[in-house]
Amino acid sequence: MSTEAATRRRGPYGMEYARIEVPDLAASIEFLQYHVGLQLEQHDDEYAFLRADIEHHSIELIAAPHRTESWTTAIGFSVESDEVLDDLRERVVAAGHEVLELHERMKGLCQRGFAVRDPNGLIVELFTEFVEYAEPPLIELRPVDLVHPFLATDKYEESLDFYTKVLGFLPSDYVGDVTVFLRCEDRYHHSLALQRNKEFYAAHLCFKMKSFDHVMRGRARAQYKKVPIASDLVNHSASTSIAFYMHDPKHGPRYELCDRHRVFTPEEHATHRARRMAVDPRNIDVWRPAADDWGRF
Ligand SMILES: [Fe+2]
Repeated sequence: MSTEAATRRRGPYGMEYARIEVPDLAASIEFLQYHVGLQLEQHDDEYAFLRADIEHHSIELIAAPHRTESWTTAIGFSVESDEVLDDLRERVVAAGHEVLELHERMKGLCQRGFAVRDPNGLIVELFTEFVEYAEPPLIELRPVDLVHPFLATDKYEESLDFYTKVLGFLPSDYVGDVTVFLRCEDRYHHSLALQRNKEFYAAHLCFKMKSFDHVMRGRARAQYKKVPIASDLVNHSASTSIAFYMHDPKHGPRYELCDRHRVFTPEEHATHRARRMAVDPRNIDVWRPAADDWGRF
């Protein structure tokens, strides 16, 4: 390992959950159960926790009857140790950001943590020892992990600086100066992606399924219930995952169900040089036949 890698200040470990305000809590619970395969664990009239695997939850829904469409308010990332958490807090303070408390419900679900607003005001919660279950849900068709959020932002450079220089995410690949894929210490190719845009919104959340077969079964359920498939099967150039995206704005951002998302080896994690790829649809989906095939994304 190079000296640089040995002395690198570490970033968060990986994505754990998103908190999403939804206009119809009961309908969104049903959507996430059937279409994503999450298991409902706890809820009242105000909120609901749903989980994919052993981690306590991967989606927290918040009842927001005043809304007509969902809005993602927070993303949560686990941190490996108290030392890394303290170091992250130090960096956040040094960069002039306000250190916030975790959401009230999160305080009992981890050992220690804090929150900070990203340049667009999205809450990023960082914490150690996220509580878990002894067993995964006894559901066959379910995700095994929540992999990343994909954020569209009108503050691209500022956000890139925030996530890399303050929070220690590592660039894995760039597509022009339009999209960047950032990884955490769990070594997924990306645990967060940023896209230059005219406005800010959480564009999608990616769940890793057990197999390609399960991705296709999720796609079949979307087709059967006529949930719009915002982008059909793509073979991702950057992360090597095969995925489709469904979207009903009432229930959250696009949900991406994927298989084969690349995980770096420890050596690749230490030495990977982020590629600078041209803005070309084939650098997003290797199955695109030509440079002008921008439709269907
Ligand atoms: Fe994605």
